[in-house]
Amino acid sequence: MTPVRVNRRGLLLGASAGTTVAGLTYWWQAKHANDVPQGSPLAVDLQDLPAGKLLTLNWQDKPVWVLRRSSDEVAALAAHEALLLDADSQHSVQPQACRNRHRSLKPDIFVAVGLCTHLGCTPQLRGADGFTCPCHASHYDLAGRVFKAGPAPANLVIPAHHFASENRLVLGASA
Ligand code: FES
Repeated sequence: MTPVRVNRRGLLLGASAGTTVAGLTYWWQAKHANDVPQGSPLAVDLQDLPAGKLLTLNWQDKPVWVLRRSSDEVAALAAHEALLLDADSQHSVQPQACRNRHRSLKPDIFVAVGLCTHLGCTPQLRGADGFTCPCHASHYDLAGRVFKAGPAPANLVIPAHHFASENRLVLGASA
């Protein structure tokens, strides 16, 4: 398995016009199977990924995000939980080890499928405000937890992944 090397400009792969249709299909599969996406392991070196830079990978024809959050951004996740639809991720799809406030294995590294759980559009990062979907204005925080105000019914899906070493992420399989 050849790791993907991330430079300081990040890596942008795979977000395309076909994403919406693929995303819709994927979303229905995830919703009804309630199954954490896994398969086709992809190793990614995160050593040079700076805080605040959103890395988008193309994995199994889906955009998968990797975001390194600052300690302040992680701490801020506690501030708005009354506004969230599923703050504890009880009704959302993620590995069991990511069912925590920051929805991640490591507090700073957030990994998620970059498809809105409403109809599969690709949300956009709005800095510390989280992610906003351009289609019907669903809003997610920096842990991919959806706010009640929008139509999306669940938090962003988190695929299986683990860390082979401090900065080597392996997407697609749990440890
Ligand atoms: S597809 Fe994102 S809010 Fe509708």
